Amino acid sequence: MIFDVEKNKSRIKVEELQNEFPKARLGYKIVDITDDAAVATSVQESAKFLGSIDVVLCFAGVVGCTHALEMTASQWRKTLDINTTGSFFVAQAAARQMIAQKTGGSIVFTASISGHRVNYPQPQIAYNVSKAALLSLKNCLAAEWAIHGIRTNSISPGYADTILNEGDGLAGCRSIWTPRNPMGRMGSPSELTGAAVFLSSSASTYINGADIVVDGGQVLF
Ligand SMILES: NC(=O)c1ccc[n+]([C@@H]2O[C@H](COP(=O)([O-])OP(=O)(O)OC[C@H]3O[C@@H](n4cnc5c(N)ncnc54)[C@H](O)[C@@H]3O)[C@@H](O)[C@H]2O)c1
Repeated sequence: MIFDVEKNKSRIKVEELQNEFPKARLGYKIVDITDDAAVATSVQESAKFLGSIDVVLCFAGVVGCTHALEMTASQWRKTLDINTTGSFFVAQAAARQMIAQKTGGSIVFTASISGHRVNYPQPQIAYNVSKAALLSLKNCLAAEWAIHGIRTNSISPGYADTILNEGDGLAGCRSIWTPRNPMGRMGSPSELTGAAVFLSSSASTYINGADIVVDGGQVLF
């Protein structure tokens, strides 16, 4: 079940997956994850449709490049609302369902190397703070919910070749990031798959409160 504010991308992705896995039960919902009531309803409907909620991967996030002195209150709030608070609402609704099911489960947040280090050269204070908070959120939930059999972990990607990093405005940044990476390149989204599958699966039953950095070594320099 995909939750996103964007309808077309989700529909196309579900159609592609349905062709690849004809027997799988797949769907999508238009959900703004900052709306706690909508998230709660959507999680309950998803549990009915799928039979249970066992694994939750929180990818939704936004980024902005604004200097701290020019940051407006609404830019700041939007970034923290989506990246941190929205991820919390999804995790909370899913955990309530997992506890009701008495099955436990796995929750995986998408943090970032920006939660560990200050990005260079782009100014991203709101984004960096939102991702550092997500790392703390992951630790707190891992401690609180282990008693229910719920493991909470995160993945911290480095610079990946996605829409988030596209555009002429970031061309200068891309030419700085790449030579500062020991592997000399940005990552591909598919290179997060291994960490996502690992943290979601029974291969990681004693891993709780961990963060897997998938960045080609970007933070080493
Ligand atoms: N691309 C990178 O280099 C990079 C690096 C580190 C971390 N990340 C993180 O990975 C995650 C995915 O990033 P991406 O590069 O695939 O970006 P993306 O823009 O392709 O995907 C983000 C998705 O979140 C959705 N979204 C935004 N606001 C939402 C809301 N309020 N409710 C529901 N959905 C919402 C968007 O519609 C979009 O489909 C983000 O959390 C991002 O911060 C990305």
